[in-house]
Amino acid sequence: LKRLTVPAIRRRKGGEPLVMLTAYTVRTAQLLDPHCDMLLVGDSLGQVIYGLPSTVPVTLEMMAAHGAAVVRGSFHAVVVIDMPFGSYEGSPQQAFESAAYLLKQTGAAAVKLEGGEAMAPTVRFLSERGIPVMGHVGLTPQAVNVLGGYGARGKDEAEAAKIVADATAVADAGAFAVVIEGVMEPIAIRITDTVACPTIGIGASARCDGQVLVAEDMLGLFERTARFVKRYDDMAGRISAAAETYAAEVRARSFPGPEQIYPSRG
Ligand code: KIV
Ligand code: NA
Repeated sequence: LKRLTVPAIRRRKGGEPLVMLTAYTVRTAQLLDPHCDMLLVGDSLGQVIYGLPSTVPVTLEMMAAHGAAVVRGSFHAVVVIDMPFGSYEGSPQQAFESAAYLLKQTGAAAVKLEGGEAMAPTVRFLSERGIPVMGHVGLTPQAVNVLGGYGARGKDEAEAAKIVADATAVADAGAFAVVIEGVMEPIAIRITDTVACPTIGIGASARCDGQVLVAEDMLGLFERTARFVKRYDDMAGRISAAAETYAAEVRARSFPGPEQIYPSRG
């Protein structure tokens, strides 16, 4: 099984839906890789792994460390790494330095960055210099301090038109795919029907060219989740139950049992 490539992902526009999940660690990457076309090292790791209040404090060094682990744990999916807040917005040159650092440190194939029309020149700058870029429009969590929260976007016509313009701008600038997060469904359909690259939905529409979820959310491992998360498992419940059983057995001296100890040689 050879690793998929960015051009192969690009060619899936309008075809079989693209499957993407986040991964931050080697074991999760190993388990998800056979089922996914792309693994996203999302800056959502700020909340999910580090307990931070938003993605704003996430650093390049954190993304590089987790990105390297995910590349080591996968051999099939295209690994995409989020550019963290503050590492790319200043200028295309700043973005290139940050993105090159991430790709050199990790071996990942592509980066993702948030933003629309304002980021289009940066998307073009990176794409023309050997760095494939995935866009991200609609609900962009790094802009939480401007947006004021994580509610769905595009509820009035002006905002809807702006989101469509944003997606079109990054797609026209050379993005190989664009994530559409947390928007009214007609916006996601309009974008999907308009742009030349695949759209990856999260809280968007089944009509998108692919879907992404935070793995911990769909596994039932994270406490707060949005309406758009479907729970495919209750891992939090299963981990709690296992810890409870272990604690009871330790207290009852029934663990370790005969199979877990080294008996004397005599
Ligand atoms: O950081 C992340 O997990 C993401 C996805 C939700 C698209 O950007
Ligand atoms: Na992200």
